[in-house]
Amino acid sequence: MTQPRAKIIGTGMYVPDLVVTNDDLAKRMDTTDEWIRQRTGIEERRYIEPGQQPSDLASAATKQALEAAQLGPEDIDCIVLTTLSSQADFPGTSFFLQDQLGLSDTPCFDVRAQCSGFLFGLAVANGFIRSGMYRRVLVVGCEVHSTGIDISDAGRDVAVIFGDGAGAVLLEATEDENDDSGLLEIRLHAQGKFAKKLWIEAPGSGFTPARMSHQLIDERRHFPYMEGRFVFKHAVKRMPEVLLETLNAASLKLEDVDLFLFHQANLRINEFVMEQMGIPTERCSNNIQRYGNCSSASIPILLDEAARTGRLAPGQIVSMTSFGSGFSWASAVLRW
Ligand code: COA
Repeated sequence: MTQPRAKIIGTGMYVPDLVVTNDDLAKRMDTTDEWIRQRTGIEERRYIEPGQQPSDLASAATKQALEAAQLGPEDIDCIVLTTLSSQADFPGTSFFLQDQLGLSDTPCFDVRAQCSGFLFGLAVANGFIRSGMYRRVLVVGCEVHSTGIDISDAGRDVAVIFGDGAGAVLLEATEDENDDSGLLEIRLHAQGKFAKKLWIEAPGSGFTPARMSHQLIDERRHFPYMEGRFVFKHAVKRMPEVLLETLNAASLKLEDVDLFLFHQANLRINEFVMEQMGIPTERCSNNIQRYGNCSSASIPILLDEAARTGRLAPGQIVSMTSFGSGFSWASAVLRW
């Protein structure tokens, strides 16, 4: 019997309406539009407004993916949600999403692999489908950074980078031997040795007697900490490595790839990687200029934009590569 393969049958995305420009941030901290554009390529990002929840973003992205696939929530066998900015400490955002979709007992859970989360989630979904456990799996990357960053002079190096958003893909099993579209290969890597180079320490269950305290807040340990240059250096090394490893596993060459999607952490990182690998700009898509770094939502948002704008034609090869906190890095290649 042929082993099922996972195929993307619908994509969706959602970003909040509130646009926050670099000039808006410059009113709240010591920064400039010029500094942010030059170092990161970012022009603006989106923030949620009072009353909006992460699951609202995830739900809107999911509905688009379902519409594209002409299916309803009840057709989903399992929900995998990836996030580093969970709606509650527990349960995961996926549970709020499941409820919002009107589902009563569809299994759902969160995957935590930070900016590589979407590709880790995709690997989990791919495993479910290939093993025959589920036929339709929803993978949603959903992040709300705006409520967790330090929008002041002290946090300016990290705060300017991040934005809120969600992206979703619906995967379906196929055994059709005449259809060679679908996920071809995925490779995942992690290096916990560098966990503290980019992290949020608190609340943390190792703090005694309480995981959160006024002291931790006063010490600003609930805000992200990042060694930017160290992260940059590792990102430009690891992304090419894992991209080539994945293409190699799929017996493909760089020239075979029609569209490269890189995690949107910093436009300069992606430009450096593309130049290093000899990838022409027209074979790559970036949207960090408009949305900032949406962590695990960045790649599915890019994929949805490519699908909706007609950038992708059936049979084309798409490569997706990420690097982020953990450190974690991953790559996937698919035939559209
Ligand atoms: N506005 C203005 N100045 C800023 C600033 C801001 N928002 N943030 C930092 N600076 C200042 C610093 O204080 C420093 O000033 P100094 O020279 O007087 O000390 C100067 O700019 C350079 O800071 P540095 O942190 O060395 O800048 P950088 O060139 O490394 O750029 C990043 C900072 C964050 C843009 C860059 O390191 C980066 O993108 N790293 C990778 C981050 C990443 O990918 N994270 C997510 C992974 S998922």
